[in-house]
Amino acid sequence: SKGNHRHFMEKEIHEQPEVISHTLANYLDFANGTIRADAAPIDFAKVDRIAASACGTAFYAGLVGKYWFERIARLPVDIDVASEFRYREMPLSKDSLALFVSQSGETADTLASLRYCKEQGLTVGTIVNVKESTMARESDTIFPTLAGPEVGVASTKAFTCQLSVLASLAVAAGKMRGTITDQEERQLVRELSEIPRYATQALKLESQIEGISRELSQVKHALYLGRGTNYPLALEGALKLKEISYIHAEGYAAGELKHGPIALIDESMPVIVIAPHDRWFEKTISNMQEAAARGGKIILITDETGRCGQ
Ligand code: BG6
Repeated sequence: SKGNHRHFMEKEIHEQPEVISHTLANYLDFANGTIRADAAPIDFAKVDRIAASACGTAFYAGLVGKYWFERIARLPVDIDVASEFRYREMPLSKDSLALFVSQSGETADTLASLRYCKEQGLTVGTIVNVKESTMARESDTIFPTLAGPEVGVASTKAFTCQLSVLASLAVAAGKMRGTITDQEERQLVRELSEIPRYATQALKLESQIEGISRELSQVKHALYLGRGTNYPLALEGALKLKEISYIHAEGYAAGELKHGPIALIDESMPVIVIAPHDRWFEKTISNMQEAAARGGKIILITDETGRCGQ
């Protein structure tokens, strides 16, 4: 049941601290501050690259994962939406891991891509929420998200659980490939274990966010900007606004702003900038200032350090 919530989507957004924590516990040994020995039954040291595919929100989770696997584990990732992947006839190496991301485990294009990779002789791993699904059954290995049933059509808690699994797997791969030290592993595991607490804090901003949303609900177009891992999050933000509010939105890599879309920015175009205080912060803030100079109404999503630093 929806409990005190207005709809399932709201309920599922509020479940995030709990289900992220539950999911992370499947991959992380909190007591020792390390990746669990049984986190990934894949020898990532022998994997030459990852061929990844998914649809919609699950695709954007995979796109964030690409940044993590490449940086932490020095493992290249090819990722494409499954409706393209399945017809691309891309050359695949048998030493690659085929990785799929799906809440339901039933999405037709993702399943077809999975079957294609299986036929090509690749090991198939799937990050999946429904353990009894077709994709789960047909995979060599499943990496479960423990988000519980997701009733809302637009994925929310499944997305953040997919990110939790992808981050954990990237750390596990980095460990196996010797691209991170024991100390770095501990640091990353510590940071991951703090996510449920941060999610709880973020949810406390709900009434503040609702005020902003009320204004946003009046506009016709909106732009989301981000760099690095925040770029797929900008794409996901735009998808959510389109799917839920029927407001036209686009997600852009902040650095691409000057190559066209800046011309569209004026007082009627809110620009939602995703810029926590990370390695991309300064650059994104300078793009944000360009948008502000064009009169765009800026909504900055950042953290405490970013709030003081911009
Ligand atoms: C879409 C949903 O139609 O399917 C998205 O609206 C979802 O929220 C996408 O991400 C893919 O679904 P699945 O079950 O494969 O993750």
